[in-house]
Amino acid sequence: MTAIQSPSASNRFTSLLNIDVPVVLGPFGGVSSVALTAAVSEGGGLGSFGLYGFDGGAIRKTAADLRAATGKPFALNLWVPNGSETASVPPEDFARYSAVLKPYFDELGLPLPDMPPRYMPEFGEQVEATLEAGPAVVSFVFGVPAPEVVEEAHRRGIKVVGTATSVAEAVALEAGGVDAVVASGMESGGHRVSFLKPAEESLVGTVALVPQVADAVSVPVIAAGGIADRRGVAAALALGADAVQVGTAFLATRESAAVPAYRDLLHSPAAAHTVLTRTLSGRLARGIPNRLIAGLEEAGTIAPFPVQNWLTGRFRPQAATQGNTDLMSLWAGQSAPLLRHHTAAEVLAELLAGA
Ligand SMILES: Cc1cc2nc3c(=O)[nH]c(=O)nc-3n(C[C@H](O)[C@H](O)[C@H](O)COP(=O)(O)O)c2cc1C
Repeated sequence: MTAIQSPSASNRFTSLLNIDVPVVLGPFGGVSSVALTAAVSEGGGLGSFGLYGFDGGAIRKTAADLRAATGKPFALNLWVPNGSETASVPPEDFARYSAVLKPYFDELGLPLPDMPPRYMPEFGEQVEATLEAGPAVVSFVFGVPAPEVVEEAHRRGIKVVGTATSVAEAVALEAGGVDAVVASGMESGGHRVSFLKPAEESLVGTVALVPQVADAVSVPVIAAGGIADRRGVAAALALGADAVQVGTAFLATRESAAVPAYRDLLHSPAAAHTVLTRTLSGRLARGIPNRLIAGLEEAGTIAPFPVQNWLTGRFRPQAATQGNTDLMSLWAGQSAPLLRHHTAAEVLAELLAGA
């Protein structure tokens, strides 16, 4: 049983990473910003940047930008291919999936896209660029990184963090050689990153998941999901976590890459209700319901991941640019009604206020 710790005290997690406070900024695939990542690292925590969809060149540029913004440790985050991805679909299926989305392309004045040669960058290229960039930490979701990836990271002095939505996933990650495990409860915003069982069968809440993971593994445990203030931090540490990973509360700050309309919504009563849906990406994720999700749930035709993510990704950024919250993704966790702060420094101060 892990002793209850003060969040300001150094512990085995802060010592592992040579950081001041046991707070991790959750990575945001598609919505990470250099400014927010650097702000959390400069504040003594671990800023993370989500590299979903980035090719080698974009990863190298992002790492250089992060280094220019902070000399402190930061994490880069990748999605592990776990065999559940659909690499390609026949042209007739692509046309059928596109047709369902045509009204949204039309509404935004965009043409339907042609079928691409691939839907995601090559994982090997992403890993190579990420490890070459030499972050303090590389964190993974959706699987256990291959032994050679973990070995190469360690050879370069990079710590490896894996993400679990169940005790079995945490045990598998520890067996795979990771240095710490994120235990992500179903309250979390964004994708459910399950890989051993379907996400729908891995919906454990943070309060139940964290102590079970802490009992099952010997590496440090990072609690994620529903933590947005000093009470959440105290609870997570009491449950046996060594650190917390916070997404939604940081996503709603000025330094975030979320557009103002999205940030405003996170601070509004609308964020009190979130749903788990496969409609936007083909994988289960938590966000604020909008007209797009309602329309696609009703249509009932959703391409498999990553095809659906790629297709809706051809118009969601345009909707975001226009501040059109009807047609963009609004990933958010269940903690949104707790949000009171508008800068990364304020959120960090709130999280650490119980110290
Ligand atoms: C917009 C958004 C995108 C996210 N993308 C990723 C991602 O690419 N990789 C990842 O490990 N976690 C991702 N997450 C999860 C967060 O990093 C974090 O674990 C989670 O938000 C914590 O729960 P909370 O939202 O209740 O604070 C995402 C979350 C959000 C809200």
